[in-house]
Amino acid sequence: MSELQRVVSEIVDEMRAREDRGEVATYISELARVDPRQFGLAVIDAEGNVAAAGDCDVPFSIQSISKVFTLTLALGKVGDRLWRRVGREPSGSPFNSIVQLERERGIPRNPFINAGAIVVTDVILSGHQPREALGEILRFMQFLGQDASITIDSAVAASEQRTGFRNRALANYMKSFDAIENTVDFVLGAYFHHCAIAMSCRQLATAGRFLAHLGRNPETGFSVVQPERARRINALMLTCGHYDGSGEFAYRVGLPGKSGVGGGIFAVAPGKASIAVWSPGLDASGNSHLGRLALEELAKRLGWSIFG
Ligand code: DON
Repeated sequence: MSELQRVVSEIVDEMRAREDRGEVATYISELARVDPRQFGLAVIDAEGNVAAAGDCDVPFSIQSISKVFTLTLALGKVGDRLWRRVGREPSGSPFNSIVQLERERGIPRNPFINAGAIVVTDVILSGHQPREALGEILRFMQFLGQDASITIDSAVAASEQRTGFRNRALANYMKSFDAIENTVDFVLGAYFHHCAIAMSCRQLATAGRFLAHLGRNPETGFSVVQPERARRINALMLTCGHYDGSGEFAYRVGLPGKSGVGGGIFAVAPGKASIAVWSPGLDASGNSHLGRLALEELAKRLGWSIFG
């Protein structure tokens, strides 16, 4: 067994033995039904060695982790013009907060809070039918995750369509500033569906490898983005990837990472590894409680913090 696999297995055993698991998200009814005892971890190093344990092959709802990939697509479409419509500063507010939007005239603080991700989805949607835009996002995930079986969990998408009142408020409010180009319902439909993509830790760690290696999958040699863009997406994950818990995540883990309310966290150790962890119970900021602890242990035991 490799040293990396030993550390990964050890951490999964330790996390599974813990009683403090946080609370599963309940505002999306399908997510409330997920068994909180599940725990998965997958790490892929620069050579392509996979160390994985626990429920690492069980698909879960990636939710806001999809925002990293929609940001990548939107930057590919409109480049730095995207930054006229969304900021790059940490919000210091919950992921679905509405207050800053009024003061900042419909320009969301960053692409990872819900308002910012809705703008990013609007950019991807422009010039397309919703179905085409969604197909493009899903195919991108299948391509990066090297698995054509990756799909959208339509029950999760439907339950968010039914109860996504806050997102509807955010999108309509931005529309009032002309910050959204397309029909609000179409934008939200695409947004809810890309949040409902289901992937396992192994698939997600595979999909994100380009961010750990200057924009390129080191195994296939395929370049997804230029090195500078990969660096910048990582900077945004570090500063904004965990909403009002981003400072704490940087302090404890020291890696760029993006969380989702499904309990997943995607993280990168630049030059070293792509990492995905899943534990459905969340902390008060809506980030995976044990997922964060597991990443803290992983970064500590392997000396992977970007801060040395
Ligand atoms: O829009 C929402 O509220 C969800 N589809 C995604 C939120 C989310 O994952 C926040 N992450 N921790």
